[in-house]
Amino acid sequence: MESSGQRWVRAGRAAEVHAAGRLAVHLDGHAVALFAWDGRLYAVDNRCPHMGFPLDRGSVADGILTCHWHHARFDLAGGGTFDQFADDVRAYPVDVRDGDVYVDLSPRGDPAAHHRRRLRDGLERDIPLVIAKAALVLGGNGSATEAVRIGLEFGTRYRAAGWGQGLTILTCYANLLPYLDDADRPWALYQGLSAVARDTGGAAPRFVLAPLPDSAAGVDLLTDWFRRFVEVRDAEGAERCIVSAVRAGADAAALARMLFAAATDHRFIQIGHVLDFTNKAFEALDIAGWTHAETALAGLATAYATADRMEESNEWRHPVDLVAIVETAAQALPAALENRRRGQTDGPARAMDQSALVPVLLGDDPRAIANALLDALRDGMEPVEVAAAVAYAAALRIARFPQSNEFGDWDTALHTFTFANAVHQGLRRGGSTLLVRGVFDAAMSVYLDRFLNVPPARLPEADREAPRDLLAELAATLDRQQQAAAAARLVTTYLARGGDVDRLLAVLGRLLVREDRNFHTIQMIEAAVRQHAGLRGTPAGTHVLVAAVRYLAAHAPTVRAQGQTFEIARRLHRGERLFEEE
Ligand code: FES
Repeated sequence: MESSGQRWVRAGRAAEVHAAGRLAVHLDGHAVALFAWDGRLYAVDNRCPHMGFPLDRGSVADGILTCHWHHARFDLAGGGTFDQFADDVRAYPVDVRDGDVYVDLSPRGDPAAHHRRRLRDGLERDIPLVIAKAALVLGGNGSATEAVRIGLEFGTRYRAAGWGQGLTILTCYANLLPYLDDADRPWALYQGLSAVARDTGGAAPRFVLAPLPDSAAGVDLLTDWFRRFVEVRDAEGAERCIVSAVRAGADAAALARMLFAAATDHRFIQIGHVLDFTNKAFEALDIAGWTHAETALAGLATAYATADRMEESNEWRHPVDLVAIVETAAQALPAALENRRRGQTDGPARAMDQSALVPVLLGDDPRAIANALLDALRDGMEPVEVAAAVAYAAALRIARFPQSNEFGDWDTALHTFTFANAVHQGLRRGGSTLLVRGVFDAAMSVYLDRFLNVPPARLPEADREAPRDLLAELAATLDRQQQAAAAARLVTTYLARGGDVDRLLAVLGRLLVREDRNFHTIQMIEAAVRQHAGLRGTPAGTHVLVAAVRYLAAHAPTVRAQGQTFEIARRLHRGERLFEEE
């Protein structure tokens, strides 16, 4: 029976439902539960929207249907839930004709629109299963960008402290999406979005400052003011400069110059997190759209103003004053860069390249390191190339990190690497000359990390005896604790045998998303994939991936509880049953 888009299907005899109180039926592929209550008949989807338990096994009292698995409650007539962890259940229109019950199965609504709304519910209440269900719909039909945008809007608005780990994790996963298999993309999206939910849970919202009214200040002056306010740790003044610059029409390059200048006015601030978060905010805006720049970038101001400065730390001052070395180098930078520009037109012969630079960077003479960097720039190396060499040296610290070190020191090496990667990405974006100071900061941090390679773990060689399916073996290896060396050998052997590096990256991504969220591990893999992009097919590219897999192996396996939640959502999404039906 059809009329005006309706699709009425006979479901049974009304007397039978009234007599039994309920009846489970299958109608054209739909599992439907019929209920009789207070003299009327009702029909709902028989799969509980929470985890699929059959609702005909639930209870009806006072017009409320209660699922007996986790006790979610629904308005029997409309299907609306009282329990946000569950979701509304679909209620079908019912008609009784000549003693027969008819149910209207015509499709309702737009699933993507529904899950966009549910994603916001999940973010507001930090409900991982709801976020996972939304990610499966939004990340599986090409609209992952929209889900990232929703996460960015939410994360920047509902965390008083501003940009934090949650948004950084979301951006890392958004960057990794193109490398992942189709089936793993919603999983990565879920991990990123649920990190935002956890980071904002219980936090006060942010109230972004308004731009300066009727200001004649251009971006250059606002940049000067911004740096001055950060210098005296004035977060509100700094934030007002950011939002005013955005509102004044500063483009992405101008905003990068503004923020990266202040991020490198002091040495290695907040062990690199401020610059790394700034770079991630820019990357998130590249994905979600620069219309969100005002709220996203304003949320960085507090971190700038409150960051620890390595001028205040003992290790950067004694026994060698690394701050003085970097500041002296910074004074020489304009002339070195000018020399490079002149040299470019004269066609210089380079005395220094990345392969010559890296051994110096891994040495134990910080003045020689600073001088080598300046020489490389004078000789015509681009700042972005010099930054890549420093990032590679930082990756080697991790690739050679012996397990005899204290476990927490993985993160000491990690912070240097992710900072070096952020400086590199910032310079690729066209960050200012001032950002080149960050290359020197990263190099000094690589120098300070030299004790983490004493004695150095050996870079592995290809293993002749290794199994044929090396990637399956890699996954199995990371099921056991402390397999850094074995995992590194497998990756080296796979690449030496000519294995498809894109498959390796996809598998590394899956091995990451299956673990419980670990901020540093996610940063590590994402930065390594970024660095590897410029090193494909080279020994250095292998070393960077060895660093990544060693770090991952050192931090795996976790309990994988978040993966279990996602798997439940995935089975529901596929229509699988999570219970044994009689
Ligand atoms: S409340 Fe119904 S399956 Fe959990």
